[in-house]
Amino acid sequence: MARKKIALIGAGNIGGTLAHLAALKGLGDVVLFDVAEGIPQGKALDLSQCSPVEGFDAKITGSNDYNDIAGADVIIVTAGVARKPGMSRDDLLGINLKVMKAVGEGIKTHAPNAFVICITNPLDAMVWALREFSGLPHHMVVGMAGVLDSSRFSHFLAEEFQVSVKDVTSFVLGGHGDTMVPVISYSTVSGIPIPDLIKMGRSSQEKIDAIVQRTRSGGGEIVALLKTGSAYFAPATSGIAMAEAYLYDQKRVLPAAAHVTGQYGLDNLYVGVPVVIGAGGVEQIVEIALDDEAKANLAVSVDAVKELLVACKAIDGSLG
Ligand code: APR
Repeated sequence: MARKKIALIGAGNIGGTLAHLAALKGLGDVVLFDVAEGIPQGKALDLSQCSPVEGFDAKITGSNDYNDIAGADVIIVTAGVARKPGMSRDDLLGINLKVMKAVGEGIKTHAPNAFVICITNPLDAMVWALREFSGLPHHMVVGMAGVLDSSRFSHFLAEEFQVSVKDVTSFVLGGHGDTMVPVISYSTVSGIPIPDLIKMGRSSQEKIDAIVQRTRSGGGEIVALLKTGSAYFAPATSGIAMAEAYLYDQKRVLPAAAHVTGQYGLDNLYVGVPVVIGAGGVEQIVEIALDDEAKANLAVSVDAVKELLVACKAIDGSLG
């Protein structure tokens, strides 16, 4: 059987880390695409030179030509710019929206059968726009945020309870950003819900509230430390988990920015919900019962996403 082909649009920090992980995990041949000349070629050469040491056969190539993504099975999009000091959210939106247009058209022409995972921020708006520009079926375009957000949440919870991360399951809904909704009642340590652990005296509501807040601003905490650039190891790891779910038909239940069609009372937008990812792409959206607090928080988060979509439509009139 021919090796699978993974196209990475954007060969920056996340793109390079995605390529490294894809090669180490043997997911398939990797094409790194970027508009910057030399960057994808240089990273591809450097990564190819890992292969004798690591013993992987994957071919890693760099390109500035969309023809080279032809036939990709999975495409992971990180192209764009990160917000810089002095740049408004609308400035960022305008720049990355143009990038999504170019990327969407490239995918439409050269790899319309791929499963597409978008990572570019502001995530919920960019994945929606990428889907609109590419014209791919909604179930084949998904945004990566929830896996990362819940991984951050789980990491902090494992530290708080002093248990293995393997035993922590956490649940995050809503948009990616300050309004994301970590759902405490569905977050567990080996099946024991967090509220029960609080009752057992293993932690306190105040400590869990602080962890929720730290999770919400998890990206910002890293930006403040790095000073130049934003997180890339955990975002790349999270994107790869979603790619594996598709390539290996794992039917994993993962939180992801998916297109909702009535679920949670929401229609025709992308927002973070639990989904099943398998060979059919986003095969299901899982609708769970939410308590009043989670419902109210989700409504706030969805309003923030809707505002972004209004701003996108104002910037680019072709977006219906
Ligand atoms: N087509 C392809 N690549 C592009 C385009 C474009 N139109 N515009 C910019 N790029 C490339 C840049 O040349 C750069 O190499 O996208 C890459 C982005 O890389 P980084 O700046 O290192 O950003 P990274 O940390 O990888 O994050 C990428 O993911 O989490 C989000 O907020 C983050 O939106 C950002 C994205």
